[in-house]
Amino acid sequence: MSNKHQKEVSKRRTFGIISHPDAGKTTLTEKLLLFGGAIQMAGAVKSRKTATHATSDWMAVERERGISVTTSVMRFNYHNYEINLLDTPGHQDFSEDTYRVLTAVDSALMVIDSGKGVETQTTKLMEVCRMRNTPIITFINKLDRDGLEPLDLLSDIEEKLQIECAPLSWPIGMGKGFKGVYDLLRQQITLFTPSQDTRPEDGIVVQDLADPMLDTLVGNFAADKLREDIELLQGAANPFEYEHYLKASQTPVFFGSAINNFGVRELLDAFVELSPAPGPRATTTRLVDPGEEGFSGFTFKIQANMDPAHRDRIAFFRVCSGKFTRGMKVMHHRLGKEVNLSNATIFMAQERAHVDEAYPGDIIGIHNHGTIKIGDTFTDREELKFTGIPNFAPEHFRRVVLKNPLRMKQLQKGLLQMAEEGAVQVFRPIVGNDYILGAVGVLQFEVTMTRLKDEYGVDATYEPLKYTLARWVHCDNKRVMTEFEKKNQFNLAFDAEGHLTYLAEGNWRLNHTRELFPEVIFDKTRESV
Ligand code: G4P
Repeated sequence: MSNKHQKEVSKRRTFGIISHPDAGKTTLTEKLLLFGGAIQMAGAVKSRKTATHATSDWMAVERERGISVTTSVMRFNYHNYEINLLDTPGHQDFSEDTYRVLTAVDSALMVIDSGKGVETQTTKLMEVCRMRNTPIITFINKLDRDGLEPLDLLSDIEEKLQIECAPLSWPIGMGKGFKGVYDLLRQQITLFTPSQDTRPEDGIVVQDLADPMLDTLVGNFAADKLREDIELLQGAANPFEYEHYLKASQTPVFFGSAINNFGVRELLDAFVELSPAPGPRATTTRLVDPGEEGFSGFTFKIQANMDPAHRDRIAFFRVCSGKFTRGMKVMHHRLGKEVNLSNATIFMAQERAHVDEAYPGDIIGIHNHGTIKIGDTFTDREELKFTGIPNFAPEHFRRVVLKNPLRMKQLQKGLLQMAEEGAVQVFRPIVGNDYILGAVGVLQFEVTMTRLKDEYGVDATYEPLKYTLARWVHCDNKRVMTEFEKKNQFNLAFDAEGHLTYLAEGNWRLNHTRELFPEVIFDKTRESV
């Protein structure tokens, strides 16, 4: 590998933010982009979010498609690092995409609301991170409000997410009494002043916590509390171990307030310093190193273009090795076809630009007409298939009701294509002729219906179903499997690729079936090979 290539790889940082809605992901993203100079003004990201969530009318949102595609990947430069921040859609647009984006990152930032601790969506996203042991840095946000005790927050993270916390900063007070944070590594204090866009880079150095200067800076009460806390931490908290962070068994923790841009620079500095550059990726045959000369990568997300006249879609592609150059020819291995990547797009914070070159860790957008599937691998030579881009078990289910039965064929075609794109999962029960849609977030159903109408001329609606979970099932013992299928025929369906799936009304039902058939394996994710 050339030195230049090595250098380009080592300055790439590709990450996503995991958080529960309202923890402050959008606010933090905006501040990070401000530091990176990718946006000039506070409010740019926020206004897009407001536009998204002021309405659940997906079509209206998608008229702004140019913007929403661009914000899927936010590229910025900070201290000579090329950072790709991949958006993990939340709120109503929470979907499988949100999960799948995490298969394309090298690390994650977890944002926790200090008033709420660990919330459900964070737990779900953390499960996905755990599949690849993605290293995670934690930012505990909203310290300018009264929240849970910092030590309780750490215990909450450790218990609910099963990851060790190593605080690298510590808050001095909170809410109205929030004075600032103490940097445990540098042993310095940064004092809090609300609502500033930029802050002095250096804090006030406090060599010895016993120094009365501390009392002058933050007041006696806060100073004593900090001394107490730090003493307690020295006995109770885990020391930061870089290797443990990389293995994802430990998360370094920072405190701050995104809206006040407080603690964000410290977070970003630590992020670029600690987070890993693109590493090797698994394929079905071998590990692919980013330093390899041969170009390779995979698609992890497909976004449909809503222009009914052009059914083209953008496939989001992560470069894993080699170098992408505009106009290069690559092999699309699943189809065994050569593809010319002439119109690939690179994603910047505010605009789309044509890409001339891209390196491992970068995300490029490839226009296509529905031929690319999630997980497809492209290379410029060797045949490879990247692994680790699965389907995730849906949690919401609807039965499709076709208004005009003569459009059955179009319905089938549309559903199959959308399933391949990863927009929605489609199941056919083994008993009956229904189509069942499965999704991770309910907005997907609305999207599917709108697209069926616009792109395939199919007028359909949907009805609720009692299922709440799905598991892909298999068993080596044929006799057991036959018995299982017989006993559970009203809960079994085939997915779009023909894999048998067990749909259940709730965990109790799943657990009960599991007990009856201990030899059957129930998978929460499934990879297409
Ligand atoms: P999200 O993307 O994770 O959903 O969260 P977002 O950034 O939109 O933040 C959710 C709410 O929390 C927003 O308030 C935002 O202003 C607020 N917030 C974010 N960071 C902080 C912080 O450090 N301290 C405090 N006190 N609040 C914070 P909102 O009322 O929903 O929106 P807005 O009217 O303020 O825009």
